[in-house]
Amino acid sequence: MMIRIKLAGLIFISFLALNATFIFCSNAWGKHNEVLCTACHLKSTDASAPFTAEDLVQPREMLCRTCHDADLDVSGLNPPHVFNGAPDLAGGSFTPTLVSDGAGHNMQHRDGKLGLTPPGGMALDAFDCLTCHDAHDNGNFRNLKKEINGYVTVVEADGDPDYRQNVYISGINDFCGACHEDFTSVRNSSGAGGWTRHPVGIALGSAAHADLDNWSRLTNKATQAQYPSGNPNDIYGAQVFCLSCHRAHASPYDNAMRWDHRQKPYGCLECHTF
Ligand code: HEC
Ligand code: HEC
Ligand code: HEC
Ligand code: HEC
Ligand code: HEC
Ligand code: HEC
Repeated sequence: MMIRIKLAGLIFISFLALNATFIFCSNAWGKHNEVLCTACHLKSTDASAPFTAEDLVQPREMLCRTCHDADLDVSGLNPPHVFNGAPDLAGGSFTPTLVSDGAGHNMQHRDGKLGLTPPGGMALDAFDCLTCHDAHDNGNFRNLKKEINGYVTVVEADGDPDYRQNVYISGINDFCGACHEDFTSVRNSSGAGGWTRHPVGIALGSAAHADLDNWSRLTNKATQAQYPSGNPNDIYGAQVFCLSCHRAHASPYDNAMRWDHRQKPYGCLECHTF
């Protein structure tokens, strides 16, 4: 009997250890570890010379696309394609920005209306992949920059190795808010152009004006939440955040929305009965 209990305990402990390794691996999953330095850096004729930020195989604005654009990629490494690839990656797809300025973050050319000025924030000097991501593994979710405009932008999430169903834990509101400074608020606000800013960081379960029951019952939601506990079944802790309604890169809809907001309010109706 004693031995049995000990064995069970041992199995439990090794299960925990296995779980810990799994969590560790899933965080480190899919970064640039597999990509050779020389896939991005030019080799100097002097083999002992260090790589630099300037001697890259492509100009900075193009470097990332050589692999992450399905129409250009010949790496054979099967990276997630954020241009001309699957439209259902977690970050959305930049493809619609090739034909419309209003679909989200423009990487190919400048937004005709917004230029380099994020709504609700200060104009930037440049805007490309490296404004939001580091090229090297930095420990942050998806190698997102850990500091932007002087704000700490550490993002915690359990990344799906397929880049689709991530479990967001914390940090996205601060990340987006580092550029869109006026958007991170727990208050609802409206400007001259009507309603613009939805409150973020509020748990659906504690909100008087959100319908947690309806939201939690739905399967195949258009919207999603962040889970500060890290447990996606913790519906009482689920919070509304920027990516409840937006994609991080771009989408086929206005303002990188997750659904066609101009046509149908159904994303809003998942949480509100109004
Ligand atoms: C995915 C492309 C990519 C890969 C792979 C890559 N680098 Fe870089 N590296 C860059 C870019 C882009 C910069 C410039 C970063 C910047 O200015 O923000 C850079 C900058 C650097 C710098 C200058 C200092 C710094 O950190 O900014 C060094 C040194 C460097 N890389 C070394 C390496 C080494 C060594 C490897 C392989 C282990 C490697 N890089 C792999 C893209 C890459
Ligand atoms: C030589 C090809 C290549 C280039 C160039 C390249 N990547 Fe990648 N990237 C990959 C591959 C392959 C993966 C998938 C992970 C893996 O297998 O290493 C990846 C994964 C990623 C991811 C997901 C990381 C994660 O947490 O899973 C991001 C973000 C990313 N790349 C951004 C960039 C940015 C930004 C640049 C430009 C500085 C860039 N990549 C340049 C090949 C490339
Ligand atoms: C490094 C700064 C930066 C960060 C971080 C950032 N943005 Fe932006 N954003 C911009 C800039 C610059 C523009 C205007 C230029 C453009 O749309 O290409 C913009 C435009 C937008 C627009 C309007 C797009 C359009 O087509 O009119 C939306 C919506 C948006 N951002 C949402 C987000 C969300 C959500 C996040 C977080 C996932 C985020 N942004 C993070 C810089 C940033
Ligand atoms: C405005 C900031 C911003 C810019 C600019 C940006 N990214 Fe991202 N990227 C993000 C965020 C945030 C995520 C995480 C999205 C999620 O998990 O919902 C992400 C995710 C990714 C991923 C993982 C796949 C996915 O859809 O989640 C890759 C690969 C990637 N970015 C590459 C790029 C490349 C290449 C560029 C330039 C062409 C770029 N990013 C420009 C913020 C940005
Ligand atoms: C509950 C849904 C929802 C949430 C949460 C949300 N947004 Fe939005 N956002 C929208 C809608 C809808 C619009 C478009 C408003 C319109 O054009 O009528 C929009 C518009 C925007 C725009 C474009 C504004 C302009 O003037 O062009 C930016 C930038 C933006 N959101 C950033 C953010 C950021 C950053 C966060 C997180 C701090 C966030 N949003 C959270 C729904 C949301
Ligand atoms: C993921 C769930 C979720 C989604 C999707 C969502 N909301 Fe909300 N909304 C909330 C939460 C939580 C609050 C905070 C309510 C509170 O404090 O009682 C809120 C508050 C509001 C308020 C302020 C209500 C008040 O009286 O304080 C308005 C207006 C609003 N939402 C409109 C919208 C619109 C429009 C959309 C679609 C673009 C939308 N919401 C989508 C969760 C959501």
